[in-house]
Order: sequence, then structure tokens, then C-alpha cells
Amino acid sequence: MRHLNCIGAGTPHAIDLKQISKTYGTVTALHPTDLDVEQGEFLTLLGPSGSGKTTLLNLIAGATAPTTGVIHLDGRDITRMPPRERGIGMVFQNYALMPHMTVFENVAYPLRARRQHTNVIHAKVTEALERVGLRGFEHRKPRQLSGGQQQRVGIARCIVYSPAIIMMDEPLGALDKNLRDQMQVEIKRLHKDLGTTIIYVTHDQEEALNMSDRICLMSMGKIAQLGTPDELYFQPRNRFVAEFIGESNLFIGRMNDGGRMVIAGNQSIAVPSGRCTQGSELLVMVRPEKVRISTIEEPVANGDSALTGEIVSTSFIGGMTRVTAHTDNGLTITAKMVSSSARSRPEPGSRVRLCWSSSDTVVLDE
Ligand SMILES: Nc1ncnc2c1ncn2[C@@H]1O[C@H](COP(=O)(O)OP(=O)(O)O)[C@@H](O)[C@H]1O
Ligand SMILES: [Mg+2]
Repeated sequence: MRHLNCIGAGTPHAIDLKQISKTYGTVTALHPTDLDVEQGEFLTLLGPSGSGKTTLLNLIAGATAPTTGVIHLDGRDITRMPPRERGIGMVFQNYALMPHMTVFENVAYPLRARRQHTNVIHAKVTEALERVGLRGFEHRKPRQLSGGQQQRVGIARCIVYSPAIIMMDEPLGALDKNLRDQMQVEIKRLHKDLGTTIIYVTHDQEEALNMSDRICLMSMGKIAQLGTPDELYFQPRNRFVAEFIGESNLFIGRMNDGGRMVIAGNQSIAVPSGRCTQGSELLVMVRPEKVRISTIEEPVANGDSALTGEIVSTSFIGGMTRVTAHTDNGLTITAKMVSSSARSRPEPGSRVRLCWSSSDTVVLDE
């Protein structure tokens, strides 16, 4: 958790939002929201389309004026400061390069706007292009570059004037999968080298899990959960988070007097001790990779949850195999396992036992 290690006592947050909201007529794009971003942190705003990610980004950048609330940058109130004075660099999904200008001139643009000396401009543009692997492309026009190269120009133009904070709104959204993976690695390396605070927007959960110090998962103009990738994946707060990040098996039931949760068909599931009182209704989740498939004969370890059922389908997705089973009490459960050869994969129609440890049962709030 580098964002916690690298700050000294008393260092103000890079960004501090208090009760920030935005409404357009009757539409609430963002409900009153509090959010702190640490110095040097890589924070990702993740969420489905329309959840308020761009609104939140634009409020911080100053492109949108808030309906309520206060924004501090490095401890200074900047709620009414014009965007240009905030020192925030932007990288956009559509690159927003100037088509008639060369790569060099596109990257030099923010420095010329700040009236820097020609020698300084040359040195800084060269360094920025070096960082994004585009030395030798100075004289090309944007149309002579691939999508990935154009986005590298967009990034170079952003880092060239060393903004304290960089915001990226779905910067890899227009690129194909392989290039996206490669650019993720490059952006992470750049973040490590520069130490700049980055706020990154994506609707792609894998990208968010891979890149972020913390993820701010948004839903319907509110923060659904803010935490490290591990926290969101292993300790989702509610059904929305559990279903948005990764795959999940959900169970509804009621606690009995033996510390287990009774579900459909009078079957029961072990829940972590101390979490729930007898008689309370619960929603719990188990990740598919925590579900083990065994033969019916195999004994169940003490404290494990076990349901019997029949394999419905298996799909081989490269390194992993996804298995769907119907349990005897009428539920559908997904399990994921490291792939083995076709011969040792579970066969549709076979009777199996599905087991998991009580520590892998996660109790959700709603
Ligand atoms: N200028 C605007 N006028 C009216 N409604 C808007 C405007 N901008 C955004 N919204 C609404 O606010 C909500 C959040 O939008 P946005 O922040 O763009 O979501 P996201 O970036 O997560 O897709 C959506 O319902 C959107 O329609
Ligand atoms: Mg958006």
C-alpha cells in the first residue's frame, strides 16, 4: 500500500472532497460525496456507464462547477479556481490531439502556453517522448500514428509540464485488448517513475484491479465502496460490489442455533464465527475459485460447507475452467479451477460435491 507508506505526518491529502455534489435540473449526477486522495496514490474511479465517474473527474478538474461542497488540493480551497490554475493534467479517451500539428508541437503545446524558453521546451519534450517510447516520431502528424502511439502522445503532452495530479478518463478505451494490457503496464511504470498522483477512470474491472492502489467503485452517483483491490474483491460490502468485481455465488438464508446459515432445501452453510446472531436473515457470497469439486464419497472437512449436485456444463477458458452445477436444493453454483487436460475435467451429468471453507464465505451487508 504505497499510498500509506509514502506520506509523512501532517501531509495534506492531494485531493480532499467534502460533500461534493452535482445536479442537472432533476438529474443527480453525483450525490453529496466525501473523498480523500493521498499524495502519489493511483486511485481508480470504476463503475458502470452513467454512475458519475466523469462528473466526479470534471468536478476535481474544474470543468464542472459543483452544486454543493468544497474541494481542497494540497490543503488549498480550489472550489472556485479556474481549471487552468489547478495544475491538473488530463488524458482523454479520444486523445484530443491537434491533427495539423506534429508530435513535437502537440507535446510542446502546454509549455508554449506557459511561455517557456525554446531550449527548455526542446529538452522537456524530448524527455517526455523518451518516457513514452516515441523518440524519433517528433515530425509525424497524429494521422500517421496508430491508436496506441496517439495515446502515448496524449500522455507525453500531459506529463511534459509535470502536473502534480494527472487524470485519465478511460484512456485505453479505444484500444484493442493486447495493446490495452501493454499500455496498462506502461502507465503503471510511468506512475512509479514520476510519483505523481493519478486519478484513473475505467469501466473495466480487470484494469482497475491490476492498476490501482485503491478503487472507488461508483453506482448511481454514489460511492458503493472505496478500498484496495483486495478489499473490494475479498470483502465486498454489498451485492452490487460482489457482482461488479469478479464473479460470485450468492446465498440468502437465516442463522440457526448452531452458527450455520440455513438455505433452500434445509441445507446449511458455515459462516465465519461471531458475525451473526441466531434468527437473523443473511446474504453471503462465495467466489467461484473458492469452490472445490469432489466426488460424493469424499468426506467433508469439519466446518466446511458442502452441497451435492450435478455438473451442468464446463467451459475451458484457457488457464481456467469454469464449471456450472445444479445443486439438489435447486441452486446454480459456479466453480472455477485451474485447467487440467480434457480427460480429468468434470463431465456434465456427473454427481459431485461442492465444498468451501467457512473462511471463504463472505457476509454482505445488503
Ligand atoms: N451535462 C449533463 N446534463 C445532464 N445530465 C448529465 C450531464 N452530464 C452527466 N449527466 C448525467 O449524470 C449521470 C452521470 O454521468 P457521467 O458522470 O458522465 O457517468 P459515467 O462517466 O460514469 O458514465 C448520468 O445519468 C448522465 O446522464
Ligand atoms: Mg464517463
